[in-house]
Amino acid sequence: MPTQEQKSISTVKSYTRADWQGGYTSLKEEYDYWIDDIEGEIPPELEGTLFRNGPGLFDINGQKIHHPFDGDGMISRITFTHGKAHYSNRFVRTEGYVQEQKAGKILYRGVFGTQKNGGVFANIFDFKMKNIANTNIIYWGGKLLALWEAAEPHILDTYTLETLGKEYFHGALSEGEAFGAHPHFEPKCVMDNGNPCMVNFSIKPGLLTTITIFELDTSGKVIRKYAHQVPGFCFIHDFAITENYCIFFQNPVQFNPLPFALGIRGAGECIKFEANQPTRIIVIPRQGNSTMVDKPEILEIQSGFVFHHANAFEKNGNIIVDSICYENLPEVEPNSDFRHTNFEALKPGQLWRFSLNLADRIVNRELIESRSCEFPSLHPNKVGREYRFLYMSAAHEETGNAPLQAFVKVDLETGKRILWSAAPKGFTSEPIFVPRANTSGEDDGWVLGLIYDAQYHRSDIVILDAKDLTVVTKLHLKHHVPYGLHGNFVDEVFI
Ligand SMILES: [Fe+2]
Repeated sequence: MPTQEQKSISTVKSYTRADWQGGYTSLKEEYDYWIDDIEGEIPPELEGTLFRNGPGLFDINGQKIHHPFDGDGMISRITFTHGKAHYSNRFVRTEGYVQEQKAGKILYRGVFGTQKNGGVFANIFDFKMKNIANTNIIYWGGKLLALWEAAEPHILDTYTLETLGKEYFHGALSEGEAFGAHPHFEPKCVMDNGNPCMVNFSIKPGLLTTITIFELDTSGKVIRKYAHQVPGFCFIHDFAITENYCIFFQNPVQFNPLPFALGIRGAGECIKFEANQPTRIIVIPRQGNSTMVDKPEILEIQSGFVFHHANAFEKNGNIIVDSICYENLPEVEPNSDFRHTNFEALKPGQLWRFSLNLADRIVNRELIESRSCEFPSLHPNKVGREYRFLYMSAAHEETGNAPLQAFVKVDLETGKRILWSAAPKGFTSEPIFVPRANTSGEDDGWVLGLIYDAQYHRSDIVILDAKDLTVVTKLHLKHHVPYGLHGNFVDEVFI
């Protein structure tokens, strides 16, 4: 998946590295307050709660962690009601968080290279894992769950954000079993009489990798759980669903666990991208439809790396998958510091559309958005369905690679783009599309985003009109919120 040729390279940067670094400083305090510094009006019909998750700590008592993905999960909750907004944040009290805060030092090795003090001898043969609950937060079946893809979810109190324990879905998940951080919410599931369902997966990597799929009804019960083994090691963070399929991109990587076992590298640092190997697309039929074969289909395409898929749907006998692709996976090096990332030396993520024909075993691909982009979001009723509008976080400049400072709306029907940029001082994270209640227009609603403002070292919540990405409201928080990963909006009002 090569990046499009760069037409022109801008010599003026839209950011400074020092400004960008500010969003990667720890937020140690926990807040709870009504937001009173507001530009514009909060739309009175915007009622509900935005939950976000992401690493909140980049050091344990001054000991630096090696990669943001190793940072302890911190939940932000922004509640909108009657034209007002309330902010609160809490760290997920995982076992590791509680122990490390008490000890005042790093006690666990991180997947992405964080090591205990004391060098190799302090880390050798230490395979203990800290479930850091930092990747996503969902509200499903009446429970608020903080997710991390390599272990079970943590349950939080929706009102106090207190950590209540771990979720095993009435025994469907066993202790320590993985539950992915990228569930997809199917708006109307044909297998469930048109009711919504949640589809998630887990990966058990090895020489043969087991992919397990979980489908949950609205009460939070696992109603379908099925597993398949596929050849080779899998590093898969996200997947896509359609009415009848789950689709995975098996990135071409090799895993050599030896440096991890010997205490030299984190497990994630032992993953090597293989540019000369193809990416495999694994298509798993969703269980419950008797007309389908139940074996996965595996198709091959040109090498590339995918963290996130935007959406997928079935059309005219083909499966269409929209994904953000990188030419390769930048390897995490033990002696590097993510705070000094050289953006210009890296390839951008770009949006591609893949058209899979299972009968002919052909995959066609098309570049849709060449601007560096990440964190796709769409109308919740369009998940797994043909759709028109996609919102993503994006770079300010049209070409090259840079931190995310903008939101882009892509009209997949006309090709029209709309950009809203927070540059030079603002840095964006995942946008969340929230539909206006009782309307049917696919872009009738708002785009909510948490923006880090380097000028004041604080964060803003922006509410954009999803039609044209104009700012409706800007809510200034009293502090910064570190760059987060994923979150969700729910209609329920939790304060
Ligand atoms: Fe993700």
